[in-house]
Amino acid sequence: MKKIVVAIDGHSSCGKSTMAKALASYAGYKYVDTGAMYRAVALAASREGLLDIPNEIDLAKLEKLLATLEIDFIVTSQGQHTSLNGIDVEAEIRTLQIGNAASRVSAIPFVRTQLVSLQQDMGRAKGIVMDGRDIGTVVFPNAELKVFVTASPEVRAKRRFDELLAKGTPMSFDDVLKDVLDRDYRDTHREVSPLKQADDALLLDNSNMTREEQSALLQSWFDKRIL
Ligand code: DC
Repeated sequence: MKKIVVAIDGHSSCGKSTMAKALASYAGYKYVDTGAMYRAVALAASREGLLDIPNEIDLAKLEKLLATLEIDFIVTSQGQHTSLNGIDVEAEIRTLQIGNAASRVSAIPFVRTQLVSLQQDMGRAKGIVMDGRDIGTVVFPNAELKVFVTASPEVRAKRRFDELLAKGTPMSFDDVLKDVLDRDYRDTHREVSPLKQADDALLLDNSNMTREEQSALLQSWFDKRIL
């Protein structure tokens, strides 16, 4: 059966990763969460104090640091985790603070160039589901299946609000909604590779869909592409 590249892009907190993971498992494909890679860079930069001052990053220091980072994915008993220089950093990269830091570092051109090249290497052999913001537009413009996922900001904020509550780190709904809107603004307005739907991407608005409905729809699109 033919192996393809599946590119899944979309807004933050719209359930992209969950859908992408489910599709990778259905297809027997590798799954790459590119957001986790930007988060790993953000974690390393914040540990070095490079993100302490809002709107100011020492780019020379960041570039040096980036050259020393090894970002990878490892299989653990709890599923696929992100590793930074050989150490599992999955829990640390999932905080709201690192999410915002990732949004900052992801706007820097040399960070994107390096991570995009790593992502292209990971997908060279095909048989991969990759999710992010620029997969169908920049990383794999020739991907056989491109999906652009979205949901209303309120629905996404409610999902993030519930997640934070479940983790025991609640925030007010208004703050979560503001964070969703701020992140959307930054992701869609940055100069390099802003988030946008590729012309040939299929739109999946899951505001009113269950996980099962989304998975079924995605699988049906995938099945058509591997024929
Ligand atoms: O999907 P996420 O929330 O884990 O992504 C973290 C940040 O990284 C988010 O602000 C967008 C950015 N990102 C990006 O610019 N390009 C990607 N391919 C993936 C994520």
